[in-house]
Amino acid sequence: MEKPKYSKVNRVIHWAIAISFLLLLITIFLRLTWMNKYNMAAIIQDYLSGTDQVLSQDQLIALAKKIRQPMWDWHIYIGYVLVGLFSIRFILPAFGYMGFQNPFSKNLSLKVKFQRWVYLVFYACVIVSLTTGLIIVLGPKALKKPMEEIHVLGVYYLVAYIIIHLTGVLIAEFTEEKGIISRIVSGSKNKD
Ligand code: HEM
Repeated sequence: MEKPKYSKVNRVIHWAIAISFLLLLITIFLRLTWMNKYNMAAIIQDYLSGTDQVLSQDQLIALAKKIRQPMWDWHIYIGYVLVGLFSIRFILPAFGYMGFQNPFSKNLSLKVKFQRWVYLVFYACVIVSLTTGLIIVLGPKALKKPMEEIHVLGVYYLVAYIIIHLTGVLIAEFTEEKGIISRIVSGSKNKD
C-alpha cells in the first residue's frame, strides 16, 4: 500500500504551527500599526486637548501601553504555544515523523538544495525568536534590552519565509507536484 505523503501527525503539527504564526503575525501587525503606542498617545493627547486635563508625554505613553497590553498578552500566549509546538516538531524525527532534510546530501538539484536551506535557516531563526522571547519574559532584567533588540528583528524573516513558502507551494502545485496542497490538507494518497 502506498504511504500517504503527509501523515496525520505531520498535518496536525503543520497547521497548528501555521495558524499560530498567523495569529502571532496579527499581534505584531497591530502593535506596529493601529495599536502603536505613539499613535495611541497622539489620539489620547488629541482628545485631552479639548478638555482641561493635561498628561505628560510619559503618562500618555504609559496609558497607551496599558490599553495595548490585553492585545499584546496574546503575543506571549501564542509564543508559549509555539514553544510547545516546536518542541514537539523537533522531537518527532526521533519517532520517525517529519525528519529533517539535509541540504548537504549529494546529487541534489539546485531547487531542492534551496528548499532545504530555506527550512534550515527558518528553523534556526525560529529557535532564536523563541529563546529570546522566553528570556525577555522569564529571564533576568539585565538581558531584557539586548534580547529585545534581537527579538524584534523576527518580523523580517517571518514575513520573508511566509512569502517564499507560499510562492514555492503554489509553483509546485501548478508544475510538477500537482496535488501537494490537497495532500497537506487531507493527506490524500493520490499523486494528482
Ligand atoms: C517565532 C516566534 C516569535 C516571533 C517571530 C516573534 C516576533 C516578535 C516581534 C517582531 C516583536 C516586535 C514587535 C514590535 O516591536 O512591534 C516581538 C516582541 C515581543 N515578543 Fe515575540 N516573537 C516570537 C515569540 C515570542 C515568545 C515565545 C515570547 C515569550 C513567551 C515573546 C515575547 C515577546 C515580547 C515580550 C515582546 C515585546 C518586546 C518589547 O517590548 O520590545 N515572543 N516578537
